[in-house]
Parts: sequence; C-alpha cells; structure tokens
Amino acid sequence: MTKQKIALVTGGNKGLGRETCRQLARRGITVLMGARDMKKGIQAADGLNAEGLSVEPVQLDVIRAGHIAQVNALIENRFGQLDILVNNAGMIHPDEPMFANSAEHVSLQALRETFEVNFFGQVALTQALLPLIRKSPAGRIVNVSSILGSLTLHSDESSAATQVKPLAYDASKTALNQFTVHLAASLKQTPIKVNAAHPGWVKTDLGSQRAPMEVEDGAKTAVRLAIIGPDGPTGKFFHLDEEIPW
Ligand SMILES: NC(=O)c1ccc[n+]([C@@H]2O[C@H](COP(=O)([O-])OP(=O)(O)OC[C@H]3O[C@@H](n4cnc5c(N)ncnc54)[C@H](OP(=O)(O)O)[C@@H]3O)[C@@H](O)[C@H]2O)c1
Repeated sequence: MTKQKIALVTGGNKGLGRETCRQLARRGITVLMGARDMKKGIQAADGLNAEGLSVEPVQLDVIRAGHIAQVNALIENRFGQLDILVNNAGMIHPDEPMFANSAEHVSLQALRETFEVNFFGQVALTQALLPLIRKSPAGRIVNVSSILGSLTLHSDESSAATQVKPLAYDASKTALNQFTVHLAASLKQTPIKVNAAHPGWVKTDLGSQRAPMEVEDGAKTAVRLAIIGPDGPTGKFFHLDEEIPW
C-alpha cells in the first residue's frame, strides 16, 4: 500500500499559499497549512475542508524558532516523515514600494526584516525539517522565489524584471535562489529534489489586483515542482514549464 503523502506549505492561509494547499490536497496529499496567525489558518483550512480536502492548519511563523520546533515535532510524531515542503511564505516590506528602485535609500532595518522572512526563515525551517524529508522516498523542496531575484534578468534591459527594483525584496529572493542551488547540490546523491518557482505576477495581497494572473494559475509552478517524478530537475528555477535563468 502506498503511504499517504504529507506536505507542508508555509504562508498557507491566503494567496498563492492557500491555492497551493488546495491543489496539492486535490491530488490526495495530506496538507499541513502553515499560518503565523492560527485564527487565519483555521478559517482558511475550514474553507478547504468544506471542499472535501484534507488540509490541517499548523501555527508557523517562519521567523520563530519555537514554531519551527513545534511543527517539526508534530510532523515527526504524527507522520514520521515529510514528503513535500513548499517554502511559500514571503513579504515585501511596507517601507519599500514594489515598483520603485530602493537601492539608494532602503533602510538596513527594512533589509534585515525582509531577509528574516524571505531568506533566514526559509533556511531555518528547511534545515530543521530536512531529517524528516530524508525519510521520504521522494522528498521535494520548493522555494517560492520570483523573477525579481534573477540577476540575469535584472541585467537584461529587455526583461520586464528590470523595471521592478525594490532592493530588499529582490535581494532576499536572490539569496533564496542561491540556497536552492546550494541545497540541491548538497542533496544530489539523495532522492530529494530542490527547485525554485516563479509563480508569475499574480493577483494577491502582495501582487496587487493589477496583476494579470489568477491564483489558480499562479500556484501551478510550485505544485508541479512539488510532485515531479524521479527523473525531474533539481537545482533549477521555473515558471510553469519554462526554465528561468539565475
Ligand atoms: N503575487 C505575486 O505576484 C508573486 C510574484 C512572485 C513571487 N511571489 C511570492 O509568492 C509567495 C506568496 O505570495 P502571495 O502573493 O501569495 O502573497 P500574500 O497573499 O501576501 O501571502 C503571503 C503569505 O505569507 C505569509 N507570511 C508573511 N510573513 C510570514 C512569516 N514570518 N511566517 C509565515 N508566514 C508569513 C502571510 O501570512 P499573513 O496572512 O499572516 O500575513 C501570507 O500567508 C511569496 O513568497 C511571494 O514573494 C508572489
């Protein structure tokens, strides 16, 4: 009998995270929905449960070591392994408007606070959960990044990415990309695959209502990478089926 697959999605209570929970659960995967505010997590998970989906909220602020330890213990005690980790939680700092180039004036505080969530939190959580992911026969780690983290695209005047330069956000995603490459190399001899996903510009609180893509399509890249087979890529960066340059 195939063992039930277990996934954890951070920042799962709304936006792309909630839709990723929905799409994974529709594939029969048991999904733990990380939410830093448990009330929001319960409400969002209730909505997906009402659709007949197996989604359970867990309190997880990725910058709180205590939450990471609790989630780690819960997965260990209840399931003994983790098959899929989607590092989706992310933020743009309120002091940093999305479209302006903030390089000359962004505060170190905004830089540090952005890196805490978008980079340090993801690294801390992933490292803590790695022993449980190693127990899966086919562990998958998906880091939800952005084309705004691509140095190649920022250097290409013809790319849309070059118009959008909030330094703290963009640099935190570049760092997350580097984590993706390094971790994939470190795990090369294991069945675990580590990839980065660019969702597209998607209608969410972060992406704004001006964005052209709906969450249903925005979640597809992370979901695809979460369920890729043994011959699938590792250490790569994708939007849908298209590989993106680092
Ligand atoms: N939307 C886009 O166009 C777009 C494009 C490229 C990449 N992305 C990336 O996609 C991911 C999801 O973004 P989204 O558009 O769905 O944004 P969103 O609707 O604003 O959702 C962000 C999620 O992250 C959570 N979060 C923030 N800080 C957290 C922390 N410290 N610990 C745990 N969770 C935290 C939020 O929780 P609360 O509800 O409690 O705030 C929320 O659940 C992000 O990594 C983002 O950078 C988005």
